[in-house]
Amino acid sequence: MTKSLTILGLESSCDDTAAAVLHGHDTGVRILSSVVTSQTDLHAAYGGVVPEIAARAHAERLDFIIELALEEAGISLAEINVIAVTAGPGLIGGVLSGVMVAKGLALGLGKPLIGVNHLAGHALTPRLTDGLAYPYLMLLVSGGHCQFLRVNGPGAFLRHGGTIDDAPGEAFDKIARILGLPQPGGPSVEAEALAGNQVRFALPRPLLDREGCDLSFSGLKTAVLRARDGLVAAHGGLTRQDRADLCAGFQAAIRDVLTEKSRRALKRETGLNGFAVAGGVAANQILRAALEAVAVEGGVPFVAPSPALCTDNAAMIAYAGFEAYRAGHRDGMDMIAHPRWPLDTSHQPLLGAGRKTIRA
Ligand code: KG4
Ligand code: ZN
Repeated sequence: MTKSLTILGLESSCDDTAAAVLHGHDTGVRILSSVVTSQTDLHAAYGGVVPEIAARAHAERLDFIIELALEEAGISLAEINVIAVTAGPGLIGGVLSGVMVAKGLALGLGKPLIGVNHLAGHALTPRLTDGLAYPYLMLLVSGGHCQFLRVNGPGAFLRHGGTIDDAPGEAFDKIARILGLPQPGGPSVEAEALAGNQVRFALPRPLLDREGCDLSFSGLKTAVLRARDGLVAAHGGLTRQDRADLCAGFQAAIRDVLTEKSRRALKRETGLNGFAVAGGVAANQILRAALEAVAVEGGVPFVAPSPALCTDNAAMIAYAGFEAYRAGHRDGMDMIAHPRWPLDTSHQPLLGAGRKTIRA
């Protein structure tokens, strides 16, 4: 690459509307701004993300969020060299909102357009934050996804296994809902678990007895539901301690499953420059600490981006766009929005639907 680039990234695939400005050149990248607005309040009454409400909110907010990102970066639209946007996978109305805005900007400004795979955004984040060199092993763990990937290059992903039903973030959200804790469930369950006893309830560690790196979380979710129902039947409700113990037990089960499967995934690999984790659930401190121990045990560096760059954001989209641009990729006005878009097309799609009904 000969010149430096300023990239505008847009993200609208689920319930966060985000825009970011990234400056990239041969020697490194710098996030000039990263603005994320959550729609949690809009969906709170429905117990989950309502696609139509999400799409409308993205369409209404994107202009404003872009202006904010430019303002924070201290640059004008005319100084943007490349427009990068999440083109899938995700809730199609939301993805379309972002794609249409990006096309309008690219056309109006006469700048190149890059459609980014949201999962690639998460998977490349350790390069944005820590400059991690290819190849590395990535555990991508979020509200809609859970998979192990060997990341060989910006568009070269090899999947080792993933969830066959729910994604862990989806399970965290469900557990919070059944225990009456606020959404998003991950941070609420993590906070509640601080005061809990993780061994009080005997909760399952699904699929640990099965070879390989596939995962399952729906049975664990049901086990917590049963434990809650048992307490309600016996005592008429839950005490604060019951709630904390259930959260701690659930979080420990997720941790145990993810660490053991990570150990196995690492054992299958050679020549890695690191083990990285990304996606919203990677913001969990208990999980980060346990995964770091697995990396140390496996003799590879561990990379966990800051929690704000683990959850959905547009800086990761701008960065993935930057790498794609450098690799010569360009999209045209005929670019489409993908509701599903697996990173590794050489393997059968995973069965797991995830919160966003994505099979990746
Ligand atoms: O990556 P992300 O922002 O969106 C998706 O692409 O899905 O992940 C959101 C998910 C939610 O399910 C949320 O509950 C979970 O990540 N999450 C956490 C934590 N922070 C967010 N899960 C566990 N512990 C956390 N601290
Ligand atoms: Zn995500």
